[in-house]
Amino acid sequence: MSSHYSRWEIMRRRPNTTFLITFITFLILFAFFSLNLSRYALSRFRYSDSVFDLDTRHNNNDDNNVFLHEYNHPKRRVSSIHFKLSISTVSVLLPDWEILLIVSPNTPLHYAYNYRCIFQNGAFSPARFFGVLPFMNVTTFKCDLPESVRRRRIFSKPALVTEASENEIDDPSPAPELLRWNFLVYESFSTEDDVVLFAKGVNHRQGYDRSPSELRCVFTMGDGNTVTTAVTSSVQEVFRCPHPDHVLLFQESEKIGISLVIIAENLVVPSVASYILRPRPNYAIKAQAQPKYFLCACTMVYNVGKFLREWVMYHSKVGVENFILYDNNSDDNLETVVNELHEEGYNITTLLWIWPKTQEAGFSHSILHSKSNGLCSWIMYVDVDEFVFSPSWKSQNEFPSLKSMLLHQQMSNVGHIGQVSMQCNEFGPSGQRKNPMEGVTQGYTCRRRVEQRHKSIVLVDAVDPGLRNVIHHFEVNEKQGYRSKQLSMENGVVNHYKYQAWDEFKNKFRRRVSAYVVDWRQNVNLKSKDRTPGLGFQPIEPKDWVHKFCEVRDQRLKSLTRAWFSIKLRHNETRMAWQKS
Ligand SMILES: *[C@@H]1O[C@H](CO)[C@@H](O)[C@H](O)[C@H]1NC(C)=O
Ligand SMILES: *[C@@H]1O[C@H](CO)[C@@H](O)[C@H](O)[C@H]1NC(C)=O
Ligand SMILES: *[C@@H]1O[C@H](CO)[C@@H](O)[C@H](O)[C@H]1NC(C)=O
Ligand SMILES: *[C@@H]1O[C@H](CO)[C@@H](O)[C@H](O)[C@H]1NC(C)=O
Repeated sequence: MSSHYSRWEIMRRRPNTTFLITFITFLILFAFFSLNLSRYALSRFRYSDSVFDLDTRHNNNDDNNVFLHEYNHPKRRVSSIHFKLSISTVSVLLPDWEILLIVSPNTPLHYAYNYRCIFQNGAFSPARFFGVLPFMNVTTFKCDLPESVRRRRIFSKPALVTEASENEIDDPSPAPELLRWNFLVYESFSTEDDVVLFAKGVNHRQGYDRSPSELRCVFTMGDGNTVTTAVTSSVQEVFRCPHPDHVLLFQESEKIGISLVIIAENLVVPSVASYILRPRPNYAIKAQAQPKYFLCACTMVYNVGKFLREWVMYHSKVGVENFILYDNNSDDNLETVVNELHEEGYNITTLLWIWPKTQEAGFSHSILHSKSNGLCSWIMYVDVDEFVFSPSWKSQNEFPSLKSMLLHQQMSNVGHIGQVSMQCNEFGPSGQRKNPMEGVTQGYTCRRRVEQRHKSIVLVDAVDPGLRNVIHHFEVNEKQGYRSKQLSMENGVVNHYKYQAWDEFKNKFRRRVSAYVVDWRQNVNLKSKDRTPGLGFQPIEPKDWVHKFCEVRDQRLKSLTRAWFSIKLRHNETRMAWQKS
């Protein structure tokens, strides 16, 4: 600064208009850049100082406005360095070298532009728009970590820029490190009573949960002040704690960071979640004597568009009134199929849920979602390749209902039945070489003899507050007298069309979803029930796949659905109701 002051002195002694104008321009530019530099430095400092405070919105929102405004006028060359151009994000390194970029709220984006990620060494990769996270209402992008950066010891956060500004990169300051997916608070949910956090890497393995007393919830205000509250429950990836004291008056517009502190290690878990204010009591929901739907079905989906109609139409006829799909960013025609079903009167919602290997957490989330919105009395957790039926249902009858089955279980058993589970029969390819046109219930009719696993229908009010669930089965609140009941195989069973025609099977098993189940390609846990017997680690069609897993012919559901759903066409042909004419 001193040299500038001395120049200023010189100027005062020998005023020269041209020089003066040039110099004032220079001063203004200088002030402008130092202001932005310091604001940027501040936002970085805050960021690295408390990684759980992702809110840099107040600091550089204006910058983004400037940038986009200038970009709209291509002739006005944007000549600043890239941090002024880059969009404020929080970034997480996901498995498979993918980076998730979460754009700070209220950042204007232009969807017509192509975006890219630029890394410290100048390498870049395209940034793909990845949807809006529904609960936090923030926009996300994904990009790949370029090969040249993968060998580094520390992965630093890329800058998100539009393609046009790629030449502007010249940022000398070290970028903050990328957050790692294996240790992260990734979602939060606020009920009227408490706050629920979803975190990876705090409870490491199934069955080994930290005691709540080892943790605290921490809330970080925009000014950097923090408040903590006790953790009341720590189960799997789900943590609960009270809302911060009501005397803390938050501004509604202010974004509050939320995370967990591991007390013994004095460690704040990095977080991309933000605190959602305590919802106002919803008297409309409280006034409802019952939740809106008696029975809902909830599942995690990825590219199940072509299977959805059959699954929804079938289960709707047997009593499911509402379908909740946690969508792992499908890129098939899922949205179209969902919209069509919606127009045909089916109650069906999709919620974007992109977190890798978080099926259990997603199911815990669905209980909170249903409770808060007064949606479902019971929720059935079955996948889109699973069909629930009772062998006692007769095809000549009207459509039977799962409702009467559940009510019957509640009436005819001692104690409170909080969960009903059914065994699964696993069907093989049944000779099919491609996806059967009439649907899976028609195409797959041969299965393994021994039933595997079970799937459950759970009474939402009976779920234990810890929200623990393992492979579609919840822990019910035993203190309140609830218990689970397994149906006999005469009363209820799930047809699981697990080993479908090879092309379908291959696609499905590429992506395993459970947090605690190994990837089928990995050469570990060979005895796991999740592995497919006789299948190696390569997605190569095993010999004689079409006839595998065929020990028992089982046409029961085929006959039922044929009787209920087949439509007669001319020329003595039929089609199933879910087949598009
Ligand atoms: C989500 O954010 C956008 C802008 O960032 C806003 O227009 C919209 O109202 C928000 N939606 C909800 C449900 O809060
Ligand atoms: C959809 O929900 C409404 C209640 O909101 C219900 O009356 C209707 O039967 C449901 N539709 C189906 C197909 O289940
Ligand atoms: C979502 O898909 C990704 C692959 O894109 C996968 O790694 C992840 O496990 C999936 N998560 C869930 C919950 O299905
Ligand atoms: C029509 O179908 C029925 C049963 O599928 C069959 O028995 C009958 O021979 C068919 N008639 C003609 C004219 O194909």
